[in-house]
Amino acid sequence: MTDPILEVRDLHVRFPVRRNLLGRTTVENHAVSGVDLALAPGETMALVGESGCGKTTLGSTIVGAQRATSGEVVYDGLSLTAMSERRRAPYRRQIRMVFQDPFSSLNPRFTLRQIIGDPLIATGEARGSELEDRIAEMMRRVGLSPDYMDRYPHAFSGGQRQRVNIARALIVNPRLVVADEPVSALDVSVRAQILNLLRELQAELGLTYLFISHDLSVVENLADRVAVMYFGRIVELADTASLYERPRHPYTEALMSAVPIPDPALKGRGGRILLPDELPDPADPPPGCAFARRCRHAEAGRCDTGEIPLERDAAADPLTGRAVRCVRRDELDLQGIAVTPS
Ligand SMILES: Nc1ncnc2c1ncn2[C@@H]1O[C@H](COP(=O)(O)OP(=O)(O)OP(=O)(O)O)[C@@H](O)[C@H]1O
Ligand code: SF4
Ligand SMILES: [Mg+2]
Repeated sequence: MTDPILEVRDLHVRFPVRRNLLGRTTVENHAVSGVDLALAPGETMALVGESGCGKTTLGSTIVGAQRATSGEVVYDGLSLTAMSERRRAPYRRQIRMVFQDPFSSLNPRFTLRQIIGDPLIATGEARGSELEDRIAEMMRRVGLSPDYMDRYPHAFSGGQRQRVNIARALIVNPRLVVADEPVSALDVSVRAQILNLLRELQAELGLTYLFISHDLSVVENLADRVAVMYFGRIVELADTASLYERPRHPYTEALMSAVPIPDPALKGRGGRILLPDELPDPADPPPGCAFARRCRHAEAGRCDTGEIPLERDAAADPLTGRAVRCVRRDELDLQGIAVTPS
């Protein structure tokens, strides 16, 4: 891999959930537990996993909206997590987040001019006609008419609001964008338009994406690589085609079995794998594999003790190569699906 634009090193994020009478934390939620990731410039990495697995927490920690408990976020070789707030400030423009819900993430009392222009207005970077021109240019780029600049968000559909969100993220010319479920609140008919827009903007502006989704079917045609997250950990990391064709972690296989296939005869696979609803308690992580209680391949004595490491294939690139967190990674023959060419 060329020098990564972003590296996440052994990142942990814990939230206090209970304190004693002295105000000391006695119970913590382990939202992110030792994540390592590296993104190459210009690539799209998907971060996929079910609700509550820590995707948003990881994304917010990368953009600096959430503090890391330990570990590092390294951007362009510089550790952002080691920096003071003041030194970090300029980097906040280079790594931006697009939020999931286009309805609640836009302040209803502000016009699109105020919302999209906010990062420029707040720093005084642009004013008057220059500010106006930059907002208008950004609006055109995301497919919104600058005539709407003085309207309020309520006048717009979900898809248009998500365009506003994207414009707000991109107006400061970031290099890396964390897109947190940017289409999951949208109607299916609008999803493809927003995904296409993100793809076009990436090609035009040379952006790197970390694209968060709970659904593997959304990322198939978008991502170069996929990181599968479970219970605060990465459990599988692979290029998109290899992951879809041959998942090597049982949790990936279960997520894959939920991807709708237009013509099963073409793609061939078994049925949907329904997981028992037995998520571990994030305040009390179990020993061994966190997926063990739900895994149909679990073996007592092997899967429920010790720490199961994320292991990379021997010949693989140490930063980007395929990695799997499962003691049975080399012995299972799991069911994948063929990737639809985009
Ligand atoms: N501010 C907080 N305080 C306490 N716990 C939190 C906080 N934010 C998140 N958590 C907990 O951290 C874990 C991960 O949450 P997170 O929102 O990152 O998951 P997610 O994968 O983005 O889920 P979703 O798909 O529902 O958006 C959950 O157990 C959640 O309850
Ligand atoms: S380590 Fe064991 S329980 Fe965990 S995914 Fe692998 S086979 Fe299943
Ligand atoms: Mg989330």
